[in-house]
Amino acid sequence: IESALAGGLLQGKRVLVTSGPTQEPIDPVRYIANRSSGAQGTALARALVALGAEVVFVTGPADVPPPSGVEVIRVQTAQEMLKAVQAALPVEAAVFAAAVADWRVASASDSKLKKTKEGLPNLEFAENPDILATVSQMKKGRPALVVGFAAETDDVVENAAAKRLRKGCDWIVANDVNHSTGIMGGAENDVTLIMDEGVEDWPRMSKDQVAQKLAQRIAAALT
Ligand code: CTP
Ligand code: CA
Repeated sequence: IESALAGGLLQGKRVLVTSGPTQEPIDPVRYIANRSSGAQGTALARALVALGAEVVFVTGPADVPPPSGVEVIRVQTAQEMLKAVQAALPVEAAVFAAAVADWRVASASDSKLKKTKEGLPNLEFAENPDILATVSQMKKGRPALVVGFAAETDDVVENAAAKRLRKGCDWIVANDVNHSTGIMGGAENDVTLIMDEGVEDWPRMSKDQVAQKLAQRIAAALT
């Protein structure tokens, strides 16, 4: 009965989810990237669809396939992800579960770098745009609810709370990737939800359960 009632909570609401890693090319055969299976973003998109939302799913090259029932937009780099996100607006809520590479190689080579006797390549980096901060700080057309994720190893809640204020998002889902070995790429998540109204420490649960709980909170916030 509860799921039947919940079935329409997000009916007619457009929600954006970013997911997976980005890949920043070094040359045609090499890239740098963050570690991300895309499992949490995918589970979240699935949970939002189950509540009736119209989901735009902007994803880097993830290990897991995108859920069915979403509009999938595939990107590779952070810059492409930002463009795709901006093109998907306006939305009622935006959730940034992607593990975006913080840096790209300043001038990626069009041809494959070769090993030479002259030594190692000298890669120069440029900073990628912060997609979450860009959307959070929009003056016009900002989503009513902007949610970020923060995977931290130390001072998890403090770091994540500071991140929420720095970027200007409404909620941040702090993710303890420290003590639970293998949690990155694993099936479970240790999460603390940080909001203006306060901090909620959730018990350790599966990524699917985190997704369902978060989707319900998003639905409640939008209605
Ligand atoms: N994020 C983003 N664009 C970036 C970097 C991060 O949209 N260029 C988003 C992520 O999707 C996540 C949140 O910002 O929702 C936090 O990412 P995180 O890497 O923890 O934050 P950073 O500000 O990059 O801090 P750190 O130095 O800890 O990596
Ligand atoms: Ca980062």
